[in-house]
Amino acid sequence: MVELKKLLKSSLRAFNEMLRRRTPEARTEGARKAHPAMVPIRSLGARHRKRIEEHLLSLEPQDRYLRFGYAANDEQISRYVEQMNFERDEIFGIYNRKLELIAMAHLAFLASASYESWGEFGVSVLSKARGRGYGARLFDRAVIHARNHGVSLLLIHALSENSAMLKIARKAGATIERDGSESEALLRLPPATMDSFMTEMMEEQLALNDYRIKVQLKRFWNFLTGVQEIRQGVRDARKKTGM
Ligand SMILES: CC(C)(COP(=O)(O)OP(=O)(O)OC[C@H]1O[C@@H](n2cnc3c(N)ncnc32)[C@H](O)[C@@H]1OP(=O)(O)O)[C@@H](O)C(=O)NCCC(=O)NCCS
Repeated sequence: MVELKKLLKSSLRAFNEMLRRRTPEARTEGARKAHPAMVPIRSLGARHRKRIEEHLLSLEPQDRYLRFGYAANDEQISRYVEQMNFERDEIFGIYNRKLELIAMAHLAFLASASYESWGEFGVSVLSKARGRGYGARLFDRAVIHARNHGVSLLLIHALSENSAMLKIARKAGATIERDGSESEALLRLPPATMDSFMTEMMEEQLALNDYRIKVQLKRFWNFLTGVQEIRQGVRDARKKTGM
């Protein structure tokens, strides 16, 4: 158990170090200095729909307002999740050790009449996990994916009061247009390169391995808890019968 944790930590450290040594090309133009910790971010598919719904439903009313631009109720959130198009769009998530989805982002590919390809970014981080750079890391991840899929313009709708989201967009080099209580951030993306393809591939692989290890650890803990419960049950029964 301890060994597994050590192994995971050291492989994360090694991967982090490797990314740090890579050329600045791995990040978008004008992007922020990478947050120090490497965060495994994985692509989510239709089978994660339930967890996505749980994550969004657990957002406080004010966060729902910031995320969707209106005070979304449970029914509206459930409909949003139900209508998510996992074939067309890309959904990213960050899981904690308990396999709780603590942060997620939705990169929607927009139909455009012009020759340019557009994407729209939306994100949410549970309040207990904020300020650790997850929002910024999800943004970086979405940018790389969008570049690798030919998107040249990334759009972020945010309320003007949403300092954290606007800061993330501004730091990446987006131009922000404010229209009263609403703001629109537009980020022009550089084309994909071999480096951006490699970065995404490695990040996805790392996240997948991280997730698998977390699943195994959770199963192991559940098994241990089960064994302890059985032992306790046996002890209680012995006490009762005086054996
Ligand atoms: C916006 C949100 C995703 C940010 O997530 P986060 O993980 O806390 O953000 P990060 O830790 O990556 O911080 C990004 C930057 O914003 C800054 N920041 C974080 N919270 C802030 C706040 N309340 N006010 C001002 N700046 C803030 C951080 O200091 C950081 O700046 P730095 O790079 O200079 O250090 C999160 O607050 C959230 O889920 N809000 C509700 C939903 C929402 O607003 N979604 C965005 C609209 S789509």
